[in-house]
Amino acid sequence: MKAVLFDLDGIITDTAGYHFLAWKSLAKKLGMELDEEFNEQLKGVSRTDSLELILKRGQLENTVTLAEKERLAASKNEVYNQMIKQMNASDSLPGIESLLIDLKTNHFLLGLASASQNGPAILKKLGLYDLFDTIVNPAELSAGKPDPEIFQKAAEQLGCSVSECVGIEDAAADVESINRAKMVSIAVGDKEVLHAADKVIKTTNELTVDLIKTIWTECCEIN
Ligand code: BG6
Ligand code: MG
Repeated sequence: MKAVLFDLDGIITDTAGYHFLAWKSLAKKLGMELDEEFNEQLKGVSRTDSLELILKRGQLENTVTLAEKERLAASKNEVYNQMIKQMNASDSLPGIESLLIDLKTNHFLLGLASASQNGPAILKKLGLYDLFDTIVNPAELSAGKPDPEIFQKAAEQLGCSVSECVGIEDAAADVESINRAKMVSIAVGDKEVLHAADKVIKTTNELTVDLIKTIWTECCEIN
């Protein structure tokens, strides 16, 4: 194992709720109610693709112009940024900061494979930016998760082969992205939802360098 690739929202920090609230408020202005169940489809999905899904749900996809879509996406991002304004070093999920430091101390490379264009700014707010060796720019991808491109790109940027990487995610479609990149996948959350992962754990607190190395080694022995 040479590198560990992290999702941001739901793994490094708990921003998923803010994304939901910001979309909910935008949808309300469009005359729609969004519930948690629908929100599951938005996890890991880019800003523009999320907007498309919401417009489709309200059967508005053909009535909104491209310029209007850009305005709506920008206004959601403004609301979201307002919500995360106070975010600071205390807002990383349990165990994440010490895990990242331990991984660096053990000379593993760290990559961010997040669909969020706010990724670098959020890592800076959390005081974790300097620990990362690479951050994939989601705006440069031709396809979002569950396509494997974002994880393949992270490995390429780090100069690693996919077999040397482990990916960590919290949503089912995103686990698929890691698996399709032929990397070892670790999921944090509900075992029933995330069963496709090589290993599912309940909370980020359980993630240690030893656990990640053991999962990677076991997967290499099987394959
Ligand atoms: C993903 C989130 O990490 O980033 C999605 O799970 C979000 O909910 C996507 O839509 C894009 O984020 P941003 O910050 O670029 O709007
Ligand atoms: Mg996530």
